[in-house]
Amino acid sequence: MSVRPLHYLGSPVLRERANEIGEVDEPLGQLVEDLLDTMKANDGIGLAANQIGATRRVAVVDVGDGAPVLLIDPKIVDRQGEVLGEEGCLSIPEIFGEVKRAETVVVETTTLENERVQVEADELKARAIQHEIDHLDGILFLDRLSPLKRQLLLRRWNKQRKGKRGHIQEEVPAATRE
Ligand code: CO
Repeated sequence: MSVRPLHYLGSPVLRERANEIGEVDEPLGQLVEDLLDTMKANDGIGLAANQIGATRRVAVVDVGDGAPVLLIDPKIVDRQGEVLGEEGCLSIPEIFGEVKRAETVVVETTTLENERVQVEADELKARAIQHEIDHLDGILFLDRLSPLKRQLLLRRWNKQRKGKRGHIQEEVPAATRE
């Protein structure tokens, strides 16, 4: 288990389409553990592999309602409704915007036991799942805003990052998970 440094906006890996997993193998359990540890240490509710520099189609979501959702080769098979809500991203800290998402989703995913299962989600969990699957396709929530709003937030982000070199988290927080 380890907390890994986050990749921030500007890191090319955030713009890559992550690779399919196919058959689940042992090292994947390690990646899932690292994702959970890194998400918790940064007080996040979701994290995709790209955000810790791994281009594999794996993400985790935990909105605090029980067991975290593991997304392995996830595919949204049903979406209903549409709702606007505020989003942030651990790769763009302190930047927030209103994003339109499906209200409820059914996502098909592989478990660590290598089975395909369907998970139904609504509210914040549905939003987080859609946000994380976007990451696996190289899409950030900023891309889903109006050009004007995006420009505004990008200016704010650049100002915030002024004087910092590179696109990797400088100080990795301590693990908060047992
Ligand atoms: Co994000």
